[in-house]
Amino acid sequence: MPTDLRAMLPPYRIKVVEPIPFLSAEDRRQALEEAGYNPFNLRADQITIDLLSDSGTGATSAAQEAAAALGDESYAGARSWFRFRNEVHDLTGYPHILPVHQGRAGERVLFTSLLKPGQICISNTHFDTTGANVKLAGAKPLDLPDPRAADLDSQEPFKGNIDLDALERTLGGPEGHRVGLVLMTITNNGLGAQPVSMANLEAVRELCRRHRVPFFLDAARFAENAWLVGQREPAYRGWTPRQIATRAFELADGCVVSLKKDGLSAIGGFIGLRDDDLHAGCEANLIATEGFSTYGGLAGHDLERLAQGLREVVDPAYLRARAASTARLARMINEAGVETVQPAGIHALYLNAGSLLPHLAPHEFPGHSLGCQLYLDGGIRCAELGSLYLGGMDAKHRLLTPAPFELVRLAIPRRVYTDTHFEYVAAVLAEIAKEPERVSGYRIVSAPPLLRHFKVRLAPTTTAVRNPADEPGA
Ligand code: F0G
Repeated sequence: MPTDLRAMLPPYRIKVVEPIPFLSAEDRRQALEEAGYNPFNLRADQITIDLLSDSGTGATSAAQEAAAALGDESYAGARSWFRFRNEVHDLTGYPHILPVHQGRAGERVLFTSLLKPGQICISNTHFDTTGANVKLAGAKPLDLPDPRAADLDSQEPFKGNIDLDALERTLGGPEGHRVGLVLMTITNNGLGAQPVSMANLEAVRELCRRHRVPFFLDAARFAENAWLVGQREPAYRGWTPRQIATRAFELADGCVVSLKKDGLSAIGGFIGLRDDDLHAGCEANLIATEGFSTYGGLAGHDLERLAQGLREVVDPAYLRARAASTARLARMINEAGVETVQPAGIHALYLNAGSLLPHLAPHEFPGHSLGCQLYLDGGIRCAELGSLYLGGMDAKHRLLTPAPFELVRLAIPRRVYTDTHFEYVAAVLAEIAKEPERVSGYRIVSAPPLLRHFKVRLAPTTTAVRNPADEPGA
């Protein structure tokens, strides 16, 4: 069978299903109002298509559930731990593996052991909890994305890369001695799900060696990055996704990984390390806060699902079908007149709400407005990546520095929705695109100081209101 026909098909069929709710338009309106117009506050049974996150939201396989039945729940040295450790070790090559219950737990353990207060952590882009954990360790996160990522429409293959010139300048400059870590996020979730090239990782490794700075991966989507490398980077054509992933881990001194994504499981993560002293420090921290070093906050059955999930996620047939499905959704959305960050990544699509809703100023949060409208019109839940999440605000929540783009992320859970669900999503978006001016803006009612977007409460504004920061006497 020609490969292009194979690419149409996911390599599995569905054997367990879950009903999805359909609320009336009035019930959705009321639900969103009660949620303070923040989709994070909605209940799952109020949502028809949930594209809030691809994290822990995937379907497991029959083989994973069968493995889970073998879960060994011994407190220490469980058989499940050794199966998990061997699988992770074979994939990454790191001599030390520490299990954690999810990525951010790994970030906390690693950063509090590795970073000193006052130091700088450089990344292509820190994920939100990653940046927060750097700050909680007393250090400063610094993003140095490739400037080519600023052109949302360009077809550049590796817009997730770090800006190598800026990295070299920073490491060799007056602040260079303060840099305690370089952390490359693959794929770049904060920046349009764009992949990072192996050439970029190789260059980062060289610079870090020269300046004696540890180089780590935040490898939550290591398999998806590997697939895109295999498709887009000529030097890696013919390599399997697993070989490419192993090579990426080999380049770094260690990694922190949320396995809620490419572990194909609801929970889990690990830290991979080469350095014995750093391992000893992290292990003591882990035992005090997560659990003993052979379970790290995970049950034996979780470790079993993860070990099997790590084998399934690098299957080229799975990755090919997933990438093709996201690309098809992108095409349908673009044909409906809504722009997305190009080229399409795998785990999510990023809608350009700024270009769709020019009648809304950044302080009315066009990305958030589009996200709310998707819920009001179609029961679709998604997340804003714009001024509400990234903008600089004063204590009264007035927007001082807008985000560079007003985006909305449609995250794609793994093995959960079919192309028919995605046709529905595109149809709801097409209706919005026909009459974008009916989408209302929003203003903040209350917000926490850290990780604002999770707990913020808002209210709709009438359209075209002034930014309160511009008002006389503000
Ligand atoms: N790093 C990246 C790149 C992530 O995308 C995430 C989580 C984490 C670290 C933290 O991992 O959730 O297991 O603690 N991303 C999810 C998302 C939540 O929706 O993008 P975690």
